[in-house]
Amino acid sequence: MGGAAALGIGDITLLTGVLIAGALVVTYTLRLGAPPWPTTPRAARVLLSTLPDSMDGDILELGCGWGGLALALAARYPHRRVLGVELSPVPWSVARMRVLAGRVGNLEVRRTDLHRVDLSHAGLIVCYLQGSAMARLAERAVREAPPGCWLVSNTFALPGLTPVARHPVGDVFGTTILVYRIHGGDGDPADLA
Ligand SMILES: C[S@@+](CC[C@H](N)C(=O)[O-])C[C@H]1O[C@@H](n2cnc3c(N)ncnc32)[C@H](O)[C@@H]1O
Repeated sequence: MGGAAALGIGDITLLTGVLIAGALVVTYTLRLGAPPWPTTPRAARVLLSTLPDSMDGDILELGCGWGGLALALAARYPHRRVLGVELSPVPWSVARMRVLAGRVGNLEVRRTDLHRVDLSHAGLIVCYLQGSAMARLAERAVREAPPGCWLVSNTFALPGLTPVARHPVGDVFGTTILVYRIHGGDGDPADLA
């Protein structure tokens, strides 16, 4: 009997689902110019260690992918509201399911364009984006984010802004965590510890 004939209806449904999901991931990667590549556990550890213990305002993860880093932020700040936004439907669905499965009450994952998110109440913005998305975010952050808002980026710099700290992760990719404060502030919490 041939391989295709041996497939049951369940296998074919699963295979079709995987192919559609893969096609959607590729389509959105091309459209957004960013793959849903997650922050590695090692980079996440360094990133989390650079964050202040407290701050005013909302915590935003812009382009939260599969939700791993957003979940870690929600765990790090259990009494704060964390908003993760993601436009690519497959990673967004997975992130939503992880929040529901983990019953994470302080994390909302919304399917929306990060460039439409209100930054005016942000206390901490976390991102791992590249190219034009970083340029747009830098412009908006300067215009809209409150003074003292933290912005922490995995690898990619915000054009026109100077980081208050750079933390090399020490991995083979040369990953660096960049820490910014919008309109000044007291500097890097890791230096203050
Ligand atoms: C490199 S991944 C980072 C994922 C996650 N932040 C992390 O660090 O593990 C970048 C994510 O940003 C999302 N993204 C890019 N542009 C976006 C936009 N305009 N609106 C919403 N999400 C966007 C991509 O779909 C992708 O999942």
